[in-house]
Amino acid sequence: MAADDLDDGRNTAVFRWRWIDAARYLVALAVTALIVTVIAHAVHVLLRPDVLVVLVNKGSLAVEPGTPAGNLSFGLDMEFANPSGRVVIYYEHITAYLYGQANNKTAASYFANIPFKEDVSLKQDSTKFEYLHAYPDLTSSDYKPFFDLFNSSAKKGIPEGVVVVNGTLTIGLYWSNQTARTATYYCWPVAIGGDSSEDSAASGAQCSDDPPTPEASLT
Ligand SMILES: *[C@@H]1O[C@H](CO)[C@@H](O)[C@H](O)[C@H]1NC(C)=O
Ligand SMILES: *[C@@H]1O[C@H](CO)[C@@H](O)[C@H](O)[C@H]1NC(C)=O
Ligand SMILES: *[C@@H]1O[C@H](CO)[C@@H](O)[C@H](O)[C@H]1NC(C)=O
Ligand SMILES: *[C@@H]1O[C@H](CO)[C@@H](O)[C@H](O)[C@H]1NC(C)=O
Ligand SMILES: *[C@@H]1O[C@H](CO)[C@@H](O)[C@H](O)[C@H]1NC(C)=O
Repeated sequence: MAADDLDDGRNTAVFRWRWIDAARYLVALAVTALIVTVIAHAVHVLLRPDVLVVLVNKGSLAVEPGTPAGNLSFGLDMEFANPSGRVVIYYEHITAYLYGQANNKTAASYFANIPFKEDVSLKQDSTKFEYLHAYPDLTSSDYKPFFDLFNSSAKKGIPEGVVVVNGTLTIGLYWSNQTARTATYYCWPVAIGGDSSEDSAASGAQCSDDPPTPEASLT
């Protein structure tokens, strides 16, 4: 009887220790899992690329008749995003250059530009929309085919135009800026004017570093 009691007591004690060990083990496991999750999240945030993402919203640029007759109004919606959780991005002194074919010429050529009124400054993980508006003068003989195209009521426009965005790019780290450099983005295809710009798909034209044709290269 006494021996049994003793045995029972020891068994209970052993059981209790096992239970505490198991509990400790589970807590350690949970803490480890938490640490791994936090590190994975931090690495994920750090590894997001230090790139400026540039888009032409709706992949189109609207051209409207203005006043006086023949004063054409160009309106462009652009989107700039910084996916990095680490760096700040500054994009300054920006101009958008427009390229397209006015008629059946094979090569797309430059015909107008739209200067940005503001610089773009993006803190970590942020997006900025910029609406650009300009009244380019296309009345000189060089640009006459483009003027005729946009001023005609036939609304043909340029279904596959190129918007080239050029400016000074600076990557800002917490403590300092990297050296500023020229960054050029080629957005294509962009429907410039005409009916195609009014009923184009809602998705944007993502811009890349490469010109779609050598003729539309800025450099
Ligand atoms: C442009 O189109 C408008 C409206 O059709 C017309 O009144 C005007 O004369 C045109 N301008 C030129 C320079 O052809
Ligand atoms: C075209 O219209 C804009 C806005 O109304 C105006 O500021 C600009 O002076 C006009 N351009 C010409 C050449 O008339
Ligand atoms: C352009 O090409 C189309 C079809 O190839 C033709 O119908 C049209 O007349 C041409 N336009 C010009 C301005 O040459
Ligand atoms: C492109 O941007 C850079 C930097 O802002 C500038 O130096 C250069 O003149 C621009 N090129 C054109 C063709 O606008
Ligand atoms: C980094 O560059 C931006 C844009 O040119 C400027 O506004 C900012 O003051 C610079 N920051 C430092 C720390 O130099």
